[in-house]
Amino acid sequence: MMCLLAAIALSSFLFTADPKGGLQIASVKVYPASKRHHTSKKQELAFVNFNITADLTPLFHWNTKQLFLYLEAEYTNSQGVKNEVVIWDRIVRRKEDAVINAVGKNKYMFRELSSTFKNVAPAHYALKYNVMPYVGVLTYGQAARTVEPVAFPESQSRVS
Ligand SMILES: *[C@@H]1O[C@H](CO)[C@@H](O)[C@H](O)[C@H]1NC(C)=O
Repeated sequence: MMCLLAAIALSSFLFTADPKGGLQIASVKVYPASKRHHTSKKQELAFVNFNITADLTPLFHWNTKQLFLYLEAEYTNSQGVKNEVVIWDRIVRRKEDAVINAVGKNKYMFRELSSTFKNVAPAHYALKYNVMPYVGVLTYGQAARTVEPVAFPESQSRVS
């Protein structure tokens, strides 16, 4: 039994596909947080509009339980600290749902711990996934990444 499970885990590892997709960052805007975000007044929030396209059906095989797909912002803040922030994610449970066309904006609050995006270097964005198998270990992959980093603009005041 253990041998069989090991063989399944190994074979699905060997045949793991490496699908590629597209990722466009349509816009990045920075606003001061409003009261309803329950943060201090000076905190800034970034809003990222994106367009993700990826055909992840090759990742579904006999040993695929589900996929965890996420969009990450990668940047170095003004103190030189590297950050990887998940701003959007989706769980894909069925092969029929694995063709991804997602136009939208970040689902999770995107803030800098220092409270401001001023003097933060432009960020890269990457579309990554974990494949959760029935048997064996998680595998990781990257479906897309921005070619050029995207700058954080100056904070705007809210137009209400
Ligand atoms: C999203 O990207 C795809 C592929 O590049 C493109 O065909 C589609 O028109 C884009 N959608 C929007 C709303 O920009």
